[in-house]
Amino acid sequence: MAERFRLHRFDVLQSTQIEAGQDIYQHGDVVVAVTQTGSYGRRGRAWQAPVGNLYFTMVEKFTGYTQLEWLPYVVGLALYDAVAFHIADHNNKLHLKWPNDVLIDGKKMSGILIEVKDDKLLIGIGVNVTVKPQTDQPATYINEYALSEMTSDQVLEAFLFHYARWTDIAEEGGFAAIKNDWMTRAAYIGHEITARLANGKVLNGVFEALDDHGALVLREETAHHVVTSADIFFSNSDSNGTKIHND
Ligand code: BTN
Repeated sequence: MAERFRLHRFDVLQSTQIEAGQDIYQHGDVVVAVTQTGSYGRRGRAWQAPVGNLYFTMVEKFTGYTQLEWLPYVVGLALYDAVAFHIADHNNKLHLKWPNDVLIDGKKMSGILIEVKDDKLLIGIGVNVTVKPQTDQPATYINEYALSEMTSDQVLEAFLFHYARWTDIAEEGGFAAIKNDWMTRAAYIGHEITARLANGKVLNGVFEALDDHGALVLREETAHHVVTSADIFFSNSDSNGTKIHND
């Protein structure tokens, strides 16, 4: 483990993504910050970074687009496994939400942002460990549900261990080698969901499966859609997580 990753710790950064994007960082470097003043999430959304949670960006080699088929799932699996045995009733309470969020009791515990920069991948991860951020979607933090409280360093160390393990499996067998492991930890499979695509289009249907390339298969009454990028919501919720169908 010590050879695989090199940690670079900062008290304050604008964003670990921006820091890690500099040429001085290479495959295996991990940039960690206690807090960030300008952190961002998927689709350019702001990401709050109060002191007490975990913020880091891993730099990895970008080997091609098939790597992106399995990487988000590997990161989600590693985060899930890093905290699972600390969460009370984790089999019922802890879930992966497509494409790469981790939920506790249906509320967001972490966010993952994967960016490609030249021949490098910047894998940015924010984990709510001790503080619940004030967001417009339901959020929680690990220690709200922990049997034994975790520190940010414990989460990071456990994550890196499981990330290395799942990466070895995926590099060998591709997405097919991890698909079932992801599905058994996932939320909403077999349920009605709403998928909001990047172009604003909204699809409603049943989350039927993942295809062999990591895309979400959504069944509408008359069609199947293969969705490669979207935000998804349980159909009993709107995009802010508030109920819209009470009947
Ligand atoms: C999301 O859910 O939209 C992804 C959020 C990713 C936030 C992390 S915190 C560490 C890294 N630095 C950033 O500026 N963003 C990512």
